[in-house]
Amino acid sequence: MRQSSKISKLTGLRAGFAVLSIFALIGISGVAMAADPAPMPAEAQAKAGVPGKPKVDLAVGEALYSNGDAKRGVTACITCHGPKGQSAVSAWPKLSAQHAAYTNKQLKNFKEGTRANPIMMGMAAALTEEDMQNISAYLVKQPLSQGVAQNKETIALGQSIYRGGIAAKGVPACAACHSPTGAGIAAQYPLLGGQWADYTNAQLIAFREGVRKNSSQMTAIATKLSDAEMKAVSDYMAGLH
Ligand code: HEC
Ligand code: HEC
Repeated sequence: MRQSSKISKLTGLRAGFAVLSIFALIGISGVAMAADPAPMPAEAQAKAGVPGKPKVDLAVGEALYSNGDAKRGVTACITCHGPKGQSAVSAWPKLSAQHAAYTNKQLKNFKEGTRANPIMMGMAAALTEEDMQNISAYLVKQPLSQGVAQNKETIALGQSIYRGGIAAKGVPACAACHSPTGAGIAAQYPLLGGQWADYTNAQLIAFREGVRKNSSQMTAIATKLSDAEMKAVSDYMAGLH
């Protein structure tokens, strides 16, 4: 007797839930149906994003960049890359004003490992595709930070490589892809002007050694450069704007 009354209580409860959830479903679909037919103005549509593609949100990107997200294991990027992506340490690249498509690609490359760096592979592992897009969209809007060339003796060599390449070795002019001012060409060629020379030099070595395997173009170029040429062009580019 007791047993069956328990059962009937339980089934009663279940039925209650079922009824509730049916109401919830009707409620939700009712709202969706009410919202659906009105055509959205173009601006609102752009804000809502293309269906299937994640919506890019600068403010969300900024918050993640500055504070990280401890619950998801995302470290605050600002710790190393500085306020607004303007790193004060030459081992940590400046990220401000960099083309969003390039930044996004690098984060993906760290995550898949075609750009092998133990620190950044760890950082990127915690990021979703949407996080990457949000952070990249925030960074491209930050002011360009400038640097200076430090080594007077190698400026002429650095400048001649950057502007004209090294014909005898088949090295193309860096300016051809990265533009004469080092601003790069959006979506394809990164901004290089004003970057820390130590970081740039380390990347050229990484391309040459095959640690950074995410650009066959840059691997081919770096393989032809001597250490002295890499240093000279990296230092020259730090002062380029
Ligand atoms: C502990 C320090 C540290 C933290 C924190 C950090 N980074 Fe980095 N980041 C580095 C280092 C070091 C490199 C250079 C890696 C290399 O040599 O390939 C780098 C490189 C990058 C690059 C490549 C830049 C370029 O010009 O190609 C991007 C993009 C980047 N980090 C984004 C981020 C983002 C986004 C976050 C936060 C989620 C973050 N980093 C957190 C140290 C850090
Ligand atoms: C044919 C086009 C082309 C030429 C010429 C070229 N680059 Fe690049 N470079 C690229 C591309 C594409 C990338 C982005 C690779 C990627 O997606 O990671 C790049 C990336 C770089 C990076 C990495 C930037 C960063 O923030 O990590 C450095 C450094 C660099 N190039 C230096 C040079 C130098 C120095 C020269 C001249 C000796 C040069 N490049 C010539 C196409 C070119």
